[in-house]
Order: sequence, then C-alpha cells, then structure tokens
Amino acid sequence: MGEHEEMLEESRQGEVLELNPFNETQTGKKLYIESYGCQMNFSDSEIVASVLGNEGYTTTTNMEEADLVFLNTCSIRDKAEETIRKRLKTIKHDPKKKKDVKIGVLGCMAERLKGKLLEEEKLVDLVAGPDAYRKLPELVDDIEDGQKAVNVLLSREETYDDIEPVRINSNGVTAFVSIMRGCDNMCTFCVVPFTRGRERSRNAESIVNECKDLHKKGYKEVTLLGQNVDSYRWSENRNLRGRKLREAPRDEVIDFAKLLIMVAEISPSLRVRFSTSHPKDIIDEVMFAIRDYKNICEYIHLPAQSGNTRILKKMNRTYTREWYDAKIARIREVIPSCAISTDIITGFCSETDKEHQDTVELMKQVRYELAYMFFYSERPGTLAQKKFEDDVSEDVKKSRLKEIIDIQTQINKELNEEEISKIHEVLVEGVSKRDENDFRGRNSQNKVIIFPRENYKIGDYVKVKVEKSTSATLIGKAVEIVNY
Ligand code: SAH
Ligand code: SF4
Ligand code: F3S
Repeated sequence: MGEHEEMLEESRQGEVLELNPFNETQTGKKLYIESYGCQMNFSDSEIVASVLGNEGYTTTTNMEEADLVFLNTCSIRDKAEETIRKRLKTIKHDPKKKKDVKIGVLGCMAERLKGKLLEEEKLVDLVAGPDAYRKLPELVDDIEDGQKAVNVLLSREETYDDIEPVRINSNGVTAFVSIMRGCDNMCTFCVVPFTRGRERSRNAESIVNECKDLHKKGYKEVTLLGQNVDSYRWSENRNLRGRKLREAPRDEVIDFAKLLIMVAEISPSLRVRFSTSHPKDIIDEVMFAIRDYKNICEYIHLPAQSGNTRILKKMNRTYTREWYDAKIARIREVIPSCAISTDIITGFCSETDKEHQDTVELMKQVRYELAYMFFYSERPGTLAQKKFEDDVSEDVKKSRLKEIIDIQTQINKELNEEEISKIHEVLVEGVSKRDENDFRGRNSQNKVIIFPRENYKIGDYVKVKVEKSTSATLIGKAVEIVNY
C-alpha cells in the first residue's frame, strides 16, 4: 500500500494474489487461486490452500496447468463484483487453460449471490462461502463427478482455528493472522455482515501458537486481522458465550488489548500490527499496549467514513464527529508518534455539500498518514439500500471523491517532506519493484521506505536515514543494522 493509485476508489480491490508453488510434485492435481478484496480474503486463501493441500492439491502460479481455478471474491462495491465477472469470462475463454479445468468462486461474492452464480452464463462449477472452506474436499469431489457444487452456509462458530494456513505468495517476513470472523455492526452501507455472518472470535491460544510458529520459521511481523478487532473477546470458560461473553468484565476474558500483549510478548523481534479498529470500540488499554511494547507498531487504522454527525448516524456508525475527534485526540496524547489512517465514503445517501465539507475539514484537521477513499456504491440487501435513496449523483460523488483525494495527496506530500533527514527503523520486506538494487520495507508507522541494498538482508531491521520523499514513499540510505 502507499502508492498514489492505491488511494483511489479501487484501492482494496483487484489485488491479485497468486500462489507460489509449494511442495511441487508431478503426481497431484494443481490449484490456482486469485484473491480479491480485503486482507481477510488473502488470509482465507491460505486456509483454502491448506484444506486442499491435505487432499493432495499443490498450488501453482500458472493457470494453464491448473485443474482447479479459484477466485476468492469481494462484494464491497459494485466495481469489485464487476471485476470478478470480467475475470470469469476471460478465464472461460482462455484457450490455454486445461480442457477439463473446474472453476470455483469463493468468498463474499459467492456468499452474496449463492447458486445464482452457477446459472449466469455457465461460467462457474463451484460456489463456496467464507464459512464453507472445510467442506471444499467434498465439493471438489462433486464437481469432479461432473456435478455443480454450492455451499454458502454461514456459521456462528467457524474460525478455522485448528487449520494451519499454507503461507502463499509469502515474503517469509510478514504474515496475516485472522483473529476473528464476521461483523455484527450493521453499518447501513455495508455488505460484510451479510457475506461474512456473525462476529466470532478465535481461540486466543491458537492465535498465539500460530504467531509463535511464524516467529520460529523466521517471520518478523504478524498482522492480526478482523473487521473490528477491538471487539475481540475470548474465554476458556464455555459458559461465557454470545452476549454473556460480550458483557463479562474485562478481567474475566481475553480482550483485544490482552491479546495484543500476549502476541507482543512472543519476542521483541516480532512486530505486531492489526486491522481494523472501530472508533466506537477502541479503548485506552489498546493504546497503552502500543505505547508500552516497542514491537507493537505505532499505526492505527481508524476509519471515519464521514466527518459529519448526521451522516455518521445515517450510516449507523454509532459515534458522532465529536466522539471521533476525542478518540484521535486521545491516541495523540497517549502515543504522540502514532500514525493514523482512515477510510472515507463520499456521496452517501442525502449527503449535502456542506456535510461533505465536514469530511474535508476532518481530513485537514487529522492529517491522516494514509486514507482509502471511495464513492458510495449501493449494495443490494443492505439497510441503506432498503431504507434510503441513493440520491447523490455519480458526478457529485466522484467530484467529492476527487476533492478529498487531492487534499490527501497534498497532506501525504507534506508529511513525507517532514521526514527528510530523520532516521527510521525499517523491517526489510523485499526488493523494490522499481529498482532491484533497492530494498523495500516499512517503519513502525507503516510508511514504505526504499533504500540501497548494500549488504543487508530481507528480514533485517535496519536504521535508515531519509533523504528524499514523494507523496507515497520515503527514500533513504541505511545507517546501521538493529539486532534484537
Ligand atoms: N470493517 C472495516 C471496513 C471494512 S470494508 C470498518 O468498519 O472500518 C472497507 C471499507 O470499504 C469501509 O471502511 C468503507 O469505507 C468502504 N465501503 C464499505 N461499503 C461500501 C460501499 N457500499 N460503498 C463504498 N465504500 C464502501
Ligand atoms: Fe462493514 Fe461496518 Fe462491519 Fe466495517 S464495521 S465490516 S463497515 S458493517
Ligand atoms: Fe470484500 Fe468481503 Fe473483504 S466484501 S472487503 S472481501 S470481507
């Protein structure tokens, strides 16, 4: 992330994850999978690779040799689904693919459209929702017998906690770890509660074990994933479930702040990140954990969506502008050097110019390190679609979006200029895409920094002095290695 283009409407879509071949054997069948949408989907593809890996499937980056082609899809905006439809057609008409290849749609679009996907132009053989991946072996058996297969059952319990993900497309340094699934928030614009089902937290011990294992394998950073990580709650006590668990006092449960600390204590050389925080739920204890543990990164993704209280209410975000401002102030007070990023939607139902200006003003006031900005896209089945009119014209939505993108680009440029001649500790993640003599890494604040490789290695922590900047990246030179 961090490229200018990635801040545009499409910033969370269309990223293609191709699996690296693992355990390559000539005997087994081959799976090719592309992931779209949010990090949760990328993480889920690693569960899918694991489940089918147990059935003898190896993964391939070359679609032409695949027996199974899966698209792990996103429904968040109309454009996301359009991308998948186009992709399915391209795949269907690709003359180089195997003759008897089977095509599957997984993830959120599978959940939203269910069996309908099978009817549409006969592009698809298998449809599996986000909670059905354990059933993939049976579904794949069915399609191998020439049938069509659908499983879109959502679960209140499934967290795949015992499945060891097969790390795919991995740089060997950073990994995603899902800590919860689903979402109970019901923001009126959002399709996620329908595609991902009820919120449920994963067993804390299994999360910590997965992180320990990653650390042992040489990984240096884990990102704990959930749609709303601040509402993570887990207890060994089987009597504490559902509402009882949510309402139990903090000292009787493992909440997100405690989980963060458990993971941070694995090793000072293992960085911990997390996403996404919800302004209504983030508590002081999470901020204290970031302040007190150097390896918990100073970066909070705290989507505002809008800067106007009436619109926030209509979105059912359950906080006001004042509440959001107070959360930002509190983060700055507890962790002065913390980077904060946001998601913004322009042109939500009935948004006036004046209300849009409140969002503009919010962005100027907070000066986010990063913003993902979108214009509102009505999603079938959501509360907004049922209750409100999508009455802001596309032109207005887009011009409002352009206005905030321009502002954000300028802010990024200014913030990055302020970093020149400062020294940052960077975790080296890989070789720069633009120049193979350079490394690419990120600092604690999630800012991308590029610097000449010299004799440093991927996975090193290196102090880098910033020499130049663009609106998206810092460019510098290594000063020294940091040993933990
Ligand atoms: N759980 C996260 C968001 C997940 S979806 C949170 O609550 O912040 C990622 C982002 O997509 C959202 O923050 C929102 O800004 C955007 N988004 C969701 N639904 C949308 C819609 N219908 N139209 C445009 N953008 C949308
Ligand atoms: Fe969607 Fe709101 Fe849940 Fe985020 S918190 S996933 S925006 S319903
Ligand atoms: Fe998209 Fe589903 Fe994620 S709708 S944003 S892939 S939870």
